[in-house]
Amino acid sequence: APEHIPVICVDGPTASGKGTLAAQLASQLGYHLLDSGALYRITALAAAQAGLALNASGEDAIANMAARLNIAFKNDQVWLDGAEVTEQIRLEATGMQASQVSALSKVRTALVALQHSFRRLPGLVADGRDMGTVIFPDAPLKVFLTASAEQRAQRRYKQLISKGNPTTLDSLRADLEARDARDMSRSASPLKPAQDALLMDNSNLSIEESVNQVLTWWQDKQPF
Ligand code: DC
Repeated sequence: APEHIPVICVDGPTASGKGTLAAQLASQLGYHLLDSGALYRITALAAAQAGLALNASGEDAIANMAARLNIAFKNDQVWLDGAEVTEQIRLEATGMQASQVSALSKVRTALVALQHSFRRLPGLVADGRDMGTVIFPDAPLKVFLTASAEQRAQRRYKQLISKGNPTTLDSLRADLEARDARDMSRSASPLKPAQDALLMDNSNLSIEESVNQVLTWWQDKQPF
């Protein structure tokens, strides 16, 4: 059992900056990175492509599919069944679908082993919604990020516009609040801080300040 392999969990709502923070931490520490949201996004994409209903009636079929996902992470690219899906899984529409399939408990169970397999030496930074509560409950450091819906909508807006995807701030904010509500209210692994998580509101922090805060917390844990 890999209990001796360190894991830093970064959980939080949509567009809280988890992905950026986790990637920078992993790169600075030389650790592996698990973007668990990408697994739900890929599952949603595969399920939608297969024409499955993204609700309880498709649950068994989607869970079967999730347990057998043929995925690869290469550099910054994501591949599904030999096709590059990097851009596609980042679409807002795919995010909404991911939020739907992630509410299905059999789908969540089907993805547990794959997530655990990312725990390799010298360590792992894992980002998602339930890294600290369900997937890596023994992690020595759990960070729960928060940021106002306003701030998060602004960030997502800038991201999408810079990639040439037209959108409006109002629709993004509505989208984000709908997704938060679903992620927090579902019965299977709802989004919530682990009881031993350290909370960080990054509304007014730069990326560098956020990274440094977590690195300081990490040093304070040594030896864990
Ligand atoms: O972090 P993200 O936006 O890529 O996640 C997409 C969706 O996947 C999100 O709405 C909720 C779900 N998700 C989850 O339920 N558990 C995780 N560990 C990560 C993501």
